[in-house]
Amino acid sequence: MIVISLFWIFILFVLLAVYIFLIVGKCLTQAPFLPVLRNTKRKAIEYLQLQDNSVFYDLGCGDGRVLLEASNQNPKVRCIGIELAPLPYLLARIRTRNYKQIHIQRKNIFTVPLHNATHVYMYLMPKMMNALLPRLMSDLQPGTKLISCDFMFKDKVPIETIEVAQKGHHSQKLYIYEF
Ligand SMILES: C[S@@+](CC[C@H](N)C(=O)[O-])C[C@H]1O[C@@H](n2cnc3c(N)ncnc32)[C@H](O)[C@@H]1O
Repeated sequence: MIVISLFWIFILFVLLAVYIFLIVGKCLTQAPFLPVLRNTKRKAIEYLQLQDNSVFYDLGCGDGRVLLEASNQNPKVRCIGIELAPLPYLLARIRTRNYKQIHIQRKNIFTVPLHNATHVYMYLMPKMMNALLPRLMSDLQPGTKLISCDFMFKDKVPIETIEVAQKGHHSQKLYIYEF
């Protein structure tokens, strides 16, 4: 009886902790943790054709799945994930712990210098993207490719749009930009 009660107390404690993590994350960020679909992340990384000396950023990296895809496609690429919400940050740290080339930083994307980026990926809300655009314009080197999942900038035209079909899900769009 006592063991069963302790088990349920433990489950309640875990659920409460996850709930608090999610609430804190939601208060800190303007975009929820909504992971990209498998086909879409594969297509995005394939499109970028990352080279050994590429520096790839995922702005709002969630649980790190896009960085893992990039690393699995080319293990020499330096991958940097920026994530502010505690729960996805923790998940990203755990999932990428065996990958020396992946660096996860718990920071606000609006404060991170991006001068060394050669490729950028993001899956953020349009309001955030538009607020970030001036920083991207000033920081990114000419020729830097940026992929945005599902959402477009208001004041920048994509050079290409790719529609990625999904099994049992709605399709997702990738907007490709060049800076
Ligand atoms: C839609 S999810 C995308 C996750 C991942 N990039 C993917 O494609 O699967 C957006 C992520 O951005 C993070 N985020 C939102 N605002 C942020 C900010 N200002 N700084 C850092 N991360 C932020 C959220 O916590 C969330 O994990």
